[in-house]
Amino acid sequence: MPALPNGTGNGTEETVLSRLAKLREARVLVTGGGGLVGSRLVALLQRADAVVTVLDRMDAYPESAHDLFGAARSGARLVVGDICDEATMAGLLRGADFVVHAAAYADVAACARHPDIAFRANVRGTQVVLEQVAAHPVRRLVLVSSASVYGDGVPGVDGPQRFHEDQSLFPLSVYANYKLWAEHQTRLMLGAASGAEYAVLRYFSVYGDPQIPKPGSHSWVVPWLAIQARLGRPMRLNGGGNQVRDLVHVDDVAEATALALVEEQMAEQTVNVGTGTPTSVRQVAEFLAPHFPGSRCITTPRPEGDPLGGFASVERCSELLRWRARIGVREGIDRYVQWLLATPQAVPRWLAEAAA
Ligand SMILES: NC(=O)c1ccc[n+]([C@@H]2O[C@H](COP(=O)([O-])OP(=O)(O)OC[C@H]3O[C@@H](n4cnc5c(N)ncnc54)[C@H](O)[C@@H]3O)[C@@H](O)[C@H]2O)c1
Repeated sequence: MPALPNGTGNGTEETVLSRLAKLREARVLVTGGGGLVGSRLVALLQRADAVVTVLDRMDAYPESAHDLFGAARSGARLVVGDICDEATMAGLLRGADFVVHAAAYADVAACARHPDIAFRANVRGTQVVLEQVAAHPVRRLVLVSSASVYGDGVPGVDGPQRFHEDQSLFPLSVYANYKLWAEHQTRLMLGAASGAEYAVLRYFSVYGDPQIPKPGSHSWVVPWLAIQARLGRPMRLNGGGNQVRDLVHVDDVAEATALALVEEQMAEQTVNVGTGTPTSVRQVAEFLAPHFPGSRCITTPRPEGDPLGGFASVERCSELLRWRARIGVREGIDRYVQWLLATPQAVPRWLAEAAA
């Protein structure tokens, strides 16, 4: 196995950028590039001198949030459109060397409420992306999947579980089930079947600015609790906050995703993108509390589909992707709070006006 740069991790962003030199002047299409992860990835690809095109419906957030995400001012070409539109996809893939497929109806609770909308975006849309990638001379597609495919892990095991890529998968939500479908469909349609390589990344719980909660969502614990505390409301711990998350910072996730485009060993591989460290929801509240004197927690019911969670086995991403997360959870949460305090307009109006 090739050593990680600097022996201990990905090193600095400079080290990462030197590994991304293969992307210089390469044409990269990022579906969902206007969202949280996509916009951070696009900024990194721009710094690596790739020629980036974003395809995004731009309707996942209120328009006021678009400025926070910065897709329009990133310098990348922004195409406002839908991955389900075959003509749009074909037109964009005619000139693409690489694709990151990150577009999705990306909320567990919303997918449960609207499985039809989720099906259209996450299944039908993915099918169109895969068909068009297979029909064009794309070198590699990185499929963004999710740790939700593990469900609650192995039944009967007490305590937080480490999720390994080869263990059995048991999606517990519509969202997770569609992600697992996308993984299988990618394997069936790309690779040996088409000539286009693929790599699959299972993101754990991504957080970091400018993440803001979506209405009706129970995902994204860091912004939820931080904004509740910022508004002087109690931090609501669903089910007491004993669920475990592997919180991985969006800057780290962007680096892992860009590297998956170029790392040769990643062809036809699936790896976890997490830190390898479990953090309970209650611990997140404890990390936030000193920033918001007088803050307190209350226990609320655990919503359906809210997984008990687990954390990533990180051996495979260290070995194949030669990547490890660099930002620890305490540092990442501190960074999020500093951003939130400096960016009061980030608090969505629907949330500020909602009853506590
Ligand atoms: N945030 C997390 O914790 C997390 C964890 C695991 C996996 N993921 C996955 O990572 C990817 C990015 O998630 P995110 O957190 O940035 O979510 P996000 O909602 O911020 O970004 C998703 C983007 O996809 C776009 N989109 C949705 N449907 C589309 C369509 N039909 N055509 C074009 N664009 C469309 C949305 O407008 C949005 O900008 C998603 O695939 C998500 O499922 C996220």
